[in-house]
Amino acid sequence: MLLIYPPANNFGEAMAIAIEVRNLKKTFRTHTREAGLLEAFKSLLFRKYKTVTALDKVSFKADEGEILGLIGPNGAGKSTLIKAMCGTLFPTSGTINCLGFEPWRQRIKYVKNIGVVFGPKPLLWWDIPAIDTFEFLREVYEIPEKDFKKRLNRMIEILGIENVTKTPVRDLSLGERMKCNLVCALLHNPKLVFLDEPTIGVDIIAKERIRKFIRDLNREEGTTFVITTHDMSDIENLCKRIVIINKGAIVYDGLLSKIKQKYIKTKHLNVKFSEPHKKFTLNGCKIESENEYELTIEANLKKIQIGDVTTYLLKNFKVADITITDPPIEEVIKEIYKK
Ligand SMILES: Nc1ncnc2c1ncn2[C@@H]1O[C@H](COP(=O)(O)OP(=O)(O)OP(=O)(O)O)[C@@H](O)[C@H]1O
Ligand SMILES: [Mg+2]
Repeated sequence: MLLIYPPANNFGEAMAIAIEVRNLKKTFRTHTREAGLLEAFKSLLFRKYKTVTALDKVSFKADEGEILGLIGPNGAGKSTLIKAMCGTLFPTSGTINCLGFEPWRQRIKYVKNIGVVFGPKPLLWWDIPAIDTFEFLREVYEIPEKDFKKRLNRMIEILGIENVTKTPVRDLSLGERMKCNLVCALLHNPKLVFLDEPTIGVDIIAKERIRKFIRDLNREEGTTFVITTHDMSDIENLCKRIVIINKGAIVYDGLLSKIKQKYIKTKHLNVKFSEPHKKFTLNGCKIESENEYELTIEANLKKIQIGDVTTYLLKNFKVADITITDPPIEEVIKEIYKK
């Protein structure tokens, strides 16, 4: 069963909701103690407990076929939210509905429909080659032999791990293990995939392969992804929509492009001149670097519009080329975290 909330998309058609989280709260009870041996003994007799609220009043939805980015600083509650949506943690209060299932109550039926990767935590047996784990998963998920071979070969090809799957997992590099983890999570062609930091510790080429793989799968199979990451280039490459979580609460839920519009306060202009340029001064603009033929300016968007800067440049200078760039998305996100 899928939840339908009409109307949703641009064509007025009802869209299937893959995830709906309402008012989710998750607290942990954990014990604390001061440092030192004496305190360690004391704590054996008199335990002090504290309650940590990892998630509070978290509500959001994700459509089927979406790639949703879940971001936030360390300890924000991202992994707790993923675990709750996978059904490995039960909510203290609130509700979760994923693909029509209540994850922690209907775990056995539900897990067949999802794939999960928790960073570098191995989903593979350590002492045997990954290919044996894949075969084992084929049995567990009852994947028909033909489908299994087709899907596995395709994943091996896209991820470039032809020579990796036959080596004992303990001898593989971190990036190679991460790619094999992805295969494990996706072999049974799940409708919904949770990736908690899927590119942590992997090199730039491997990152690109993993991202391409996620994009292809999303486009071809309509697979829904929820991805947490501290790598903003993952987000820029994969996600249209993001949910930002901080101290257990959602602080932003919307399009990545909107967040840029809202929070970007400066733009950078690189101007090339066809002859040595005269002195440049304009209210709201700060010169970052300059030589006879080139100028880099930071424009403060609170004081001046970018169109006014380019008009001024074109009117008063012999301009050969202008390049306008946004500050990196990391800067924008940093601003939001600070707030
Ligand atoms: N099993 C647990 N027992 C007690 N506290 C926990 C437990 N799991 C998480 N927490 C606490 O809940 C909060 C959220 O943790 P969580 O792992 O969800 O953060 P995160 O956003 O994934 O952080 P990171 O970016 O570092 O992975 C933290 O304060 C953490 O210490
Ligand atoms: Mg985490």
